Amino acid sequence: MKTFAVFASGGGSNLQALIDACVRGEIDGRIGLVVSDKPSCGALDRARAAGLETYAFRPADHADRESYERIIVERCDRAGCEFIVLAGFMRVLTPWFIRRYEGRILNTHPARLPSFPGAHAVRDALAAGVAVTGCTIHFVDEGVDTGPIILQSDVPVLPGDSVETLTRRIQAEEHRLYPRVVNLFCRGELPV
Ligand code: GRF
Repeated sequence: MKTFAVFASGGGSNLQALIDACVRGEIDGRIGLVVSDKPSCGALDRARAAGLETYAFRPADHADRESYERIIVERCDRAGCEFIVLAGFMRVLTPWFIRRYEGRILNTHPARLPSFPGAHAVRDALAAGVAVTGCTIHFVDEGVDTGPIILQSDVPVLPGDSVETLTRRIQAEEHRLYPRVVNLFCRGELPV
């Protein structure tokens, strides 16, 4: 059984899907640490409610990204985390951190990459008028949303969709896909 860290900045619905899947025994692994750059956020509330260890920090309290990342790595090591699951973590990681966990960082993105990378994927897909968007689970490399794609799912854009309604349907797909991918990674069944 592998131990992993989940990094999140927001509401934490993907974290919750991972917690629930672990509880149901659908992931051959456990969450050793939840990391957040937002000391009060839904993700941390969910982590604490599940009795998980957490580490929260304020980026502004640190001289640069590497200084907080060094603490994160120490905490991950101490908690025995072998890989990193990004679940709505809104910070770009340094090349130093990415190399430290090379091939061992997963991310979920709310569009079908390489379409609509960046922080406003749902809004951008709506603005482009596409009929179908979706979500992507991928490995993280040093670019933004450019790492090797693991699994994608389609979500149709419906007439009258807003960013909120479309986000909700995309997230429902993420909640289904992400625990499956994390389980495959835990079992060593995901070659890069
Ligand atoms: C997810 O939709 C993910 O694709 C994006 O941020 C969102 C996080 O949502 N990167 P939540 O905090 O897991 O609810």
